[in-house]
Amino acid sequence: MALRTLSSVPARAGGALPAVATAASSSARSVSSSAPRQTEAEHDQHRVRVAPNTAASNGSHKVEHKTAAAGGHSKRTLPSFSMDGKVCVVTGAGRGLGNEMARTLVQSGANELVVLDLVEEQAAAAAKEIEESFVSQGLAPPGEITAVGIGCDVANEESVKAAFQRIKDLFGRVDALVTAAGIVHNYTAEEYPTEKIRQLMDINVMGTWFCALEASKLMPNGGSIILIGSMSGSIVNIPQPQTPYNFSKSAVRHMGRSLAVEWAKRDIRVNVISPGYMCTALTKAVLATNPILDSAWHSAIPVGRMGDPADLGGAVVYLASDASRYTTGSEIVIDGGYTAV
Ligand SMILES: NC(=O)c1ccc[n+]([C@@H]2O[C@H](COP(=O)([O-])OP(=O)(O)OC[C@H]3O[C@@H](n4cnc5c(N)ncnc54)[C@H](O)[C@@H]3O)[C@@H](O)[C@H]2O)c1
Repeated sequence: MALRTLSSVPARAGGALPAVATAASSSARSVSSSAPRQTEAEHDQHRVRVAPNTAASNGSHKVEHKTAAAGGHSKRTLPSFSMDGKVCVVTGAGRGLGNEMARTLVQSGANELVVLDLVEEQAAAAAKEIEESFVSQGLAPPGEITAVGIGCDVANEESVKAAFQRIKDLFGRVDALVTAAGIVHNYTAEEYPTEKIRQLMDINVMGTWFCALEASKLMPNGGSIILIGSMSGSIVNIPQPQTPYNFSKSAVRHMGRSLAVEWAKRDIRVNVISPGYMCTALTKAVLATNPILDSAWHSAIPVGRMGDPADLGGAVVYLASDASRYTTGSEIVIDGGYTAV
């Protein structure tokens, strides 16, 4: 049985979501179809004014770290959930949801981890911090965990190839890949600069593609690839406009299904995790200055709260481990019931 298995204690937060400046809006996701039609002027009163900028964090947000693993759980845990002996790579793991998922894989027994992110120093610092947090809490002896940070622009094919060559040199193979690197902008369709759409597609779609492809080459005996989509790949968020983000995540969802079929005979499983609104450092900051957006989001989530990044942990471990060996081409939506409405 693995020394470390996922316990249900929340670990670490961080992340990004829309930067939206609201005028006045009481709209949540569902609008009654029996409501009388509004005039354009009436409608304008409720229109959301959007600051056209990138919602990805610039890294200046300080994240409060809760206890990283809060103790192992050793009593009869299904062995197939253990990540013991598996080499894991997580893109966008310098912060936010990717960082949380990387930590969770270690918490569940992985000793070899690659934190892949845009800036090498930040990736290395995040990897070191993960290693040290397990040692300092007495959850792993010094030297047991090898976490390595690698700088890589997932949108650049050559950069991705070079990063995976380094992973091959270091560990020889990849057993599990999580593709969390991604960005979101908020512009209306009419105001969206084309080069920004291309940038978003290059990161969210092509970045996912390049990483999945390179990781698959290091999976001669099979492996698990987990693409991070979003509920935005199947529904339209309101009030913030983000059409290209939404269609980029639709592409990721279908990429997952298509690769799953193509690679099934190679024993490489490909699945998608689609989070809803997750409460990360950046979303907290965005909502603190947008009380209307705050109430619009919260009133549309059946469970009445945004997700904690740790709420993704069980699905990540399930899909990355042998517990899900017959699961491929699937999507796990983790959204507090948002898309069920
Ligand atoms: N936060 C949410 O509520 C939410 C909801 C649904 C889906 N998602 C998805 O989850 C993923 C992570 O989101 P987050 O909220 O943690 O965002 P974040 O901005 O906190 O983290 C994203 C990470 O990706 C990295 N990154 C960005 N561009 C990159 C590039 N070109 N190459 C390599 N790394 C790059 C960033 O440096 C950062 O570390 C994204 O794909 C996002 O679309 C987030």
